[in-house]
Amino acid sequence: MTIRAKLTLTMALLLGAGLGALGAGLIGLERGYLLGANAEKITLMTSSAERAARDAMVQKDDVLLVSYLKFLTAQFGSLEYCKVQWQSPDKDRQLSVGTTPPGARIMERVVHVADPADSRRGVTVLLGINEDKLEERVDSGVDRLERDLSRIFGIAMILVLLVSDWFARSIARPIRQLSEVVAQVGAGKLGTRMEWNSKDEVGQLVQGFNAMSARLEELDAMKRDFVSSVTHELRSPLGAIESFIRLIEAKLSSGKADPQQVAEYFGRIAQNVRRLSGFINDLLDVAKIERGKMECVLRPTKIQDVAGEVVQFFEAKSKEQKVNLLCKVDPAFPAVQADPERIRQVIVNLISNALKFTPEGGHVWVGSEQFREGEKRWAEVTVTDTGRGMDRADLETLFKKFQQGKNVNQGVMGTKGTGLGLFIVKSIAEAHGGKVSVRSAPGKGTQFSFTLSLA
Ligand SMILES: Nc1ncnc2c1ncn2[C@@H]1O[C@H](COP(=O)(O)OP(=O)(O)OP(=O)(O)O)[C@@H](O)[C@H]1O
Ligand SMILES: [Mg+2]
Repeated sequence: MTIRAKLTLTMALLLGAGLGALGAGLIGLERGYLLGANAEKITLMTSSAERAARDAMVQKDDVLLVSYLKFLTAQFGSLEYCKVQWQSPDKDRQLSVGTTPPGARIMERVVHVADPADSRRGVTVLLGINEDKLEERVDSGVDRLERDLSRIFGIAMILVLLVSDWFARSIARPIRQLSEVVAQVGAGKLGTRMEWNSKDEVGQLVQGFNAMSARLEELDAMKRDFVSSVTHELRSPLGAIESFIRLIEAKLSSGKADPQQVAEYFGRIAQNVRRLSGFINDLLDVAKIERGKMECVLRPTKIQDVAGEVVQFFEAKSKEQKVNLLCKVDPAFPAVQADPERIRQVIVNLISNALKFTPEGGHVWVGSEQFREGEKRWAEVTVTDTGRGMDRADLETLFKKFQQGKNVNQGVMGTKGTGLGLFIVKSIAEAHGGKVSVRSAPGKGTQFSFTLSLA
């Protein structure tokens, strides 16, 4: 059964039950009212007969009583007969007004009035009231009400059915649309959205679904990027290693191997092996970070030593690229509380990025400053370049893993990378209790900085 049918049926049943209960209540009230009216009528008949008997007794006019009783039987249809008996010392007399219908259920009421002047004289009036007629009045009143109510309820039920069907349809429509969109997402059309702007729970559900669909699309794109980056980062050094090995083999088998050239080929092989192991180490670091297993053993560390070593390590590369690379950290800079191996990894990543995005003739330098935040003293280490910089959109995503800016597509210096470096930098800085930040402008350069507490 569809939701629409279920809702319509439930609402119709509920409203039908409500109307039925209301109708039963009204009928009960009407019956009570009519029974009350019958009781009042009986009281009125007996009190009228009693008053007439008293008047007749005072005026000593029996004809007056008889004609009044005739008037009463004509007035009240349920009063079938009146039997009058006069008592006096001389002689008792009797007289009947009206007749008893055969088979009728009769209720009798007796009224006795004594003569106030002579207690031996009196009159007794017996009123014969037809119970069937009284009940008939109640039943016909209730029947009329039932007929009227069933007409009104019939119309109300039709209206209720129409309104509840419209209401059920308005609830079921977005759900049906949503299930179609869900089926599309299930069939692989990630990112499919549904347009629905209500502010109720359905609107919230649709909003949540749209966000989920967008996130799925983002994750899918990330997965694709990841697979292509990983494949590229694995395949290109392996391809290079393979071709240098072939070259060496060819040289050796021809017997014309130039030792200098062979040494150069081995150098290239070693370079590619380093690139490969660097990439695999990055992947392992990311896995460690995500499992919360990235450990930093903090101890007083001279940042100038670590930065100086890294700058030295990149010296040959920067010379080759004709970029001026400098360590400007003051040799007397106070020690920081850090894991030197991890901080080395951070500075390596930042300098390798700076060199990657800085063209010939540019400058890259590492600097440091101290600052105070309340009681705590901090060091801020910066890596600045005069390279191509980044726009606002790239700045928003650069610390996420596998995210690379548009600037990597414009032909970077060296390998393209996979977008893991800054994710690792941020995670290491945060594991030290510090923060990373970046300032950059397209074409002007970039400055990355991270904070460490002073030892
Ligand atoms: N100094 C910089 N100047 C300009 N853009 C930068 C700089 N550093 C990082 N970026 C941008 O940030 C992106 C992310 O950097 P990240 O170090 O995480 O990845 P990557 O260098 O592309 O790859 P990987 O570090 O994994 O080899 C880069 O692709 C680049 O777009
Ligand atoms: Mg990098």
